[in-house]
Amino acid sequence: MDEQEMLRAAIPPLLAWFHQNKRELPWRTGRTPYTALVAELMLQQTRVEAVKERYVLFLERFPTAESLAAADEEEVLKFWEGLGYYSRARNLHKAAKIIAREGFPQTWVGLRALPGVGDYTAGAVASIALGLPAPAVDGNVLRILTRFFADGRNIAQDGTKKYFSRLLEGVYPPETADFTEALMELGATVCVPNGPPTCGACPWSDRCKAHLAGEEERYPVRTEKRARRVERLLVYVLRQGKKYAIRKRPAKGLLAGLWEFPNEPAEGASSPQGAGTVVAVREAKHIFTHVEWHMTGYLIEVGPSQAQEGLVWATAEEVRTRYALPSAFKAFMEWIE
Ligand code: ADE
Repeated sequence: MDEQEMLRAAIPPLLAWFHQNKRELPWRTGRTPYTALVAELMLQQTRVEAVKERYVLFLERFPTAESLAAADEEEVLKFWEGLGYYSRARNLHKAAKIIAREGFPQTWVGLRALPGVGDYTAGAVASIALGLPAPAVDGNVLRILTRFFADGRNIAQDGTKKYFSRLLEGVYPPETADFTEALMELGATVCVPNGPPTCGACPWSDRCKAHLAGEEERYPVRTEKRARRVERLLVYVLRQGKKYAIRKRPAKGLLAGLWEFPNEPAEGASSPQGAGTVVAVREAKHIFTHVEWHMTGYLIEVGPSQAQEGLVWATAEEVRTRYALPSAFKAFMEWIE
């Protein structure tokens, strides 16, 4: 049997299992395309339990795209409180304005063009609310399918998602919403990521290749992602009497708008010596999701005439409390205690 046939044959037992076992979730009743969009945006990077209550309150206040479109952003953000990642709320607000003006998109591409809607969310809304055979492939679905096929493809590679999306597209049943949600449900409640999956409760235990081989935990295969970009920085802790120089980071990007010690890329940097007397040097690393900072810090005593644009001079106490420097600079805080 080829992959498509194997998958197609597995859909009826999956749907039967879903009908018996699906959780009652607020976005599964009284669904409209708009409510499905709200749910999927809320569920991005956020657990079902955390979303449930927020979702209900949000829709009580903004039951339609028109009502959301007409609201002030401040109020929309207020109703997003506790969910985090507020750009999702701003995007949903923008999307509502587009929908109020142009109507709800009727295609995957139309959905994908809305702000905040990526491949996964477009697939989820298209299949759940529009009846389109559009898969929503995330880590859960990749885990289920790599186990089902005992497929050793690296799920950290872009091509893998595309491969399984195509495969699913080719087998979508008429019950598009149930199929998409059944896969989500299986990934959330049975074919789970941490610890052994509960294969006894799985509608596919009689055919899942990983399970039949007793190798559920070998899948999915994920070899290390591309290494993070390394940025080398020189960090200057300028001390003048009892005060230290700090400055505000740009409003966009990494650690946006937070305070920092002055710093510059190590490549092409001028020697720190010129600024004053270097009294200590230390190396430090900080690891972000996509970037690593490899920093060389200099504690530098500067003379009284070092006023420089954009710098704020603060006492040790102020640096620690009022300005709350991000932990990336923690290693250098020792100098100012
Ligand atoms: N996670 C993302 N979308 C979901 C949905 N519609 N139901 C349950 N969990 C989800």
